[in-house]
Amino acid sequence: MYERTIWWNGDHVEVLDQRLLPHEVATVTWRRPQDAADGIATMQVRGAPLIGVAAAHGMALAMALDPTDLDGPAASLLASRPTAVNLRWAVERMVAALTPLDPGQRAQAARRLSLTITEEDVAACRAIGDHGVSLLREVHERTGRTVQVLTHCNAGRLACVEWGTATAPVYVAAQEGIPVHVWVSETRPRNQGASLTAWELVQAGIPHTVVVDNAAGHLLASGRVDLVLTGADRIAANGDSANKIGTYLKAAAARDCGVPFHIAAPASTYDARCPDGAGIPIEEREGEEVLVFAGRSIAPGRSPARNWGFDVTPARLVDSWITDRGVLQATDLPMLDG
Ligand code: MRU
Repeated sequence: MYERTIWWNGDHVEVLDQRLLPHEVATVTWRRPQDAADGIATMQVRGAPLIGVAAAHGMALAMALDPTDLDGPAASLLASRPTAVNLRWAVERMVAALTPLDPGQRAQAARRLSLTITEEDVAACRAIGDHGVSLLREVHERTGRTVQVLTHCNAGRLACVEWGTATAPVYVAAQEGIPVHVWVSETRPRNQGASLTAWELVQAGIPHTVVVDNAAGHLLASGRVDLVLTGADRIAANGDSANKIGTYLKAAAARDCGVPFHIAAPASTYDARCPDGAGIPIEEREGEEVLVFAGRSIAPGRSPARNWGFDVTPARLVDSWITDRGVLQATDLPMLDG
């Protein structure tokens, strides 16, 4: 129904409200920069590339309201979520472009740059698809059968503006007539796999099956997966890569089973300032998300819970990084800087 996840509607920004999917397809309107910061924090929008694009729109809303204040909205956007570096990348890019301008020029320039960042995201994801499809094509040509992909969380078009990162090679493969089936890991506790990835694969008509997160080891060990494709929220300089909690377990099991594990991400996810995974800030969320399932408590009332949103997959477990600049090895990653 909506081809994109975020767009300008007159002076306002409209986003697809991802908290309601898969049951309801509805949008939310952002009028003030704080709406954007709140929308990111409450996960109306989520997914690393989209968080960056949303922050750029938030800065543009701020400039329309008060073009003399760059620092206030930048700080509140930066505080909205910690792990996806695309947020910092977008805010810093907006601030760097707007600071030298006369306040009278900033609103228009900010809106223009938010549109540029949006189009760049679409192009980057499409390029990830074009580069990554070679991995799926190779499997199909070698085996002559349907390519089996395992993914985690939602690194699809809902996590970006269009196409997605991990799903882009799948969508391009489908367009090329390469038969592909996706194992969708539900992704407890917020179920982005079951609720979002499955939803967009239904929309796209891509064969898929939802499995519980704990099924990944069995799937990999029983030869049901040709390659694992996930996204990333931050790739450190040495290639250590943060993604949705549970990604590391899949990468470890994939290595044990001899199945290639690839990360798909645009250059804006690379953090040259972060030497390795130990420096990546990991979001910790409310324990309530773990303790309550489908509106019902699943643990005794007094049990505490911890709820880390992300984990770090060490670079040694990643076979390649599928980026908009090509399929890279860890030593090539510095080319993503700038
Ligand atoms: O907490 P979320 O839903 O924002 O987490 C999203 C992920 O972990 C995605 O896999 C990641 O952002 C890559 S998106 C292309």
